Amino acid sequence: MKSVKLTNCDLDASEISLGCMRISEMTNQEISTLIHTALDEGINFFDHADIYGGGKSEAKFAEALGMTPQLREKMLIQTKCGIRKGSFDFSKAHILNAVDGSLKRLQTDYIDVLLLHRPDALVEPEEVAEAFTILQDSGKVKYFGVSNQNPMQIELLKKFVKQPIIFNQLQFSITNTTMIDAGINVNMEIDPSVDRDGSILDYCRLHDITIQPWSPFQYGFFEGVFLDNDKFPELNAKINEIAAAKGVTNTTIAIAWILRHPAHMQPIIGTTNPQRVKDSCKASGLPFTREEWYEIYRAAGNKLP
Ligand SMILES: NC(=O)c1ccc[n+]([C@@H]2O[C@H](COP(=O)([O-])OP(=O)(O)OC[C@H]3O[C@@H](n4cnc5c(N)ncnc54)[C@H](OP(=O)(O)O)[C@@H]3O)[C@@H](O)[C@H]2O)c1
Repeated sequence: MKSVKLTNCDLDASEISLGCMRISEMTNQEISTLIHTALDEGINFFDHADIYGGGKSEAKFAEALGMTPQLREKMLIQTKCGIRKGSFDFSKAHILNAVDGSLKRLQTDYIDVLLLHRPDALVEPEEVAEAFTILQDSGKVKYFGVSNQNPMQIELLKKFVKQPIIFNQLQFSITNTTMIDAGINVNMEIDPSVDRDGSILDYCRLHDITIQPWSPFQYGFFEGVFLDNDKFPELNAKINEIAAAKGVTNTTIAIAWILRHPAHMQPIIGTTNPQRVKDSCKASGLPFTREEWYEIYRAAGNKLP
């Protein structure tokens, strides 16, 4: 497993991360097998959020592993805060409270990376800055990032926050490519030309912010998996053809396609199936040509101008 290229921090993180959003209803044995499979495959980066499973995902993660300081040192743990029932909350008090809750549930005294989960319309960046500094100075959080934010939202934070923003977690998959479409169709009178995110992909590359694509196997907003799905016959035919030629599964190709992008993204896979974790990890270092990348992009229904 390769490491993801990161600037502005000293983390040595695997280029594929395991997301823990879906583990809350699993048994301890299943969770332990899943996480140990990931570790054996070279994944050392685990993504959480205070709200996953209403807090159960973080708690069961630590409980199932019987978290020890030795095991904790082998992993990098990221969690997120800022989503509440019916509102978003980036206030200083909420950020500080949320981190204390996550630390307790995860049975650890530090978080490697804290992300602000979804933009809060009422954000007061001065308060975020105060919270980040308290968390960093106390050793509770090492690094900071955001999720689902556009360039101007990040610029606003950066006016006050002194720590570097190292990650932006965004939805991106073969069937969810708005980040890329607008750049390919600049200034055209067609829907893919619409810049929905303020050119976040180029902004992140310019500012050394690593994009973490979430839901790499889903289409729509959690509508389902596009692999082996009758709704995407042409796409699956192309993915399966390339998978067969490389001797890997379609799961591997879905991740390899993301890793082929030169922005050095770190996909967050959400499978709870150990075999799919192994298949996903085969994407790291898999040769993938420019032609193959564009063939899949076109097979997903995208037209080149
Ligand atoms: N920042 C945000 O706003 C945000 C939003 C959503 C998610 N996330 C993060 O991103 C992570 C991934 O999200 P996700 O779970 O929605 O993404 P995903 O990896 O695209 O989807 C995983 C789901 O697809 C299923 N699946 C079925 N067939 C599959 C196949 N062939 N290959 C792979 N998966 C298959 C999995 O089932 P099995 O478990 O049976 O394999 C699982 O239920 C989350 O855990 C979370 O950490 C962040």
